[in-house]
Amino acid sequence: MELRTGIETRRSIRSYTEQPVTEEQIRQIVSAAQLAPSWKNSQTARYYVILDPALKERIAAEATMQFSKNMNNIRNAAAVVVLASKQGIAGYNDDGSFTTALGTHWQSFDAGIACQTFCLAAHDLGLGTLIMGIFDPEKTAEIAGLARDEQAAALIAVGYPAAEPSAPPRKPLDEVLTIR
Ligand SMILES: Cc1cc2nc3c(=O)[nH]c(=O)nc-3n(C[C@H](O)[C@H](O)[C@H](O)COP(=O)(O)O)c2cc1C
Repeated sequence: MELRTGIETRRSIRSYTEQPVTEEQIRQIVSAAQLAPSWKNSQTARYYVILDPALKERIAAEATMQFSKNMNNIRNAAAVVVLASKQGIAGYNDDGSFTTALGTHWQSFDAGIACQTFCLAAHDLGLGTLIMGIFDPEKTAEIAGLARDEQAAALIAVGYPAAEPSAPPRKPLDEVLTIR
């Protein structure tokens, strides 16, 4: 898929078919997401891909802060990914101090780039994704078995789209763009 087309046609998908997602597809997607740029090429993003239905159900039931829409989004999808970040690296000096005034900001920044790269790579394979920020990071970490130095940054539902939603409108370009 041409890059601009991929960027324009990617949508947040909240309704999926029952077709499963394969480990090979997941490997292809994550190997593309790994190419995302990161702070000093530190590559702190980690991907816990939950295909096991029982584990996925636990995340839906126990780690969505009872937000029923996300509960359903996860139940509906073939897979849910816990996108995690290794902590204390992106944005830090070797002595543990912050490199910039933005402090811990760079860890999430890197996770965000990796997240969109993941979603675009999935879209390129015909798969839909949904980034979810409304979830309980600690409960998620426990269920997915994150390492102690990792923090859950976002959940991503993955599956074959059951419908093609229309694009939510974007603000006028001149509202978001300043050229001086
Ligand atoms: C950081 C972040 C958190 C989000 N959290 C949720 C969420 O918890 N539940 C949900 O249904 N959508 C969530 N979304 C999806 C947005 O609502 C969606 O990206 C936006 O409406 C634009 O639609 P589009 O992705 O189809 O362009 C989130 C998106 C981002 C980037």
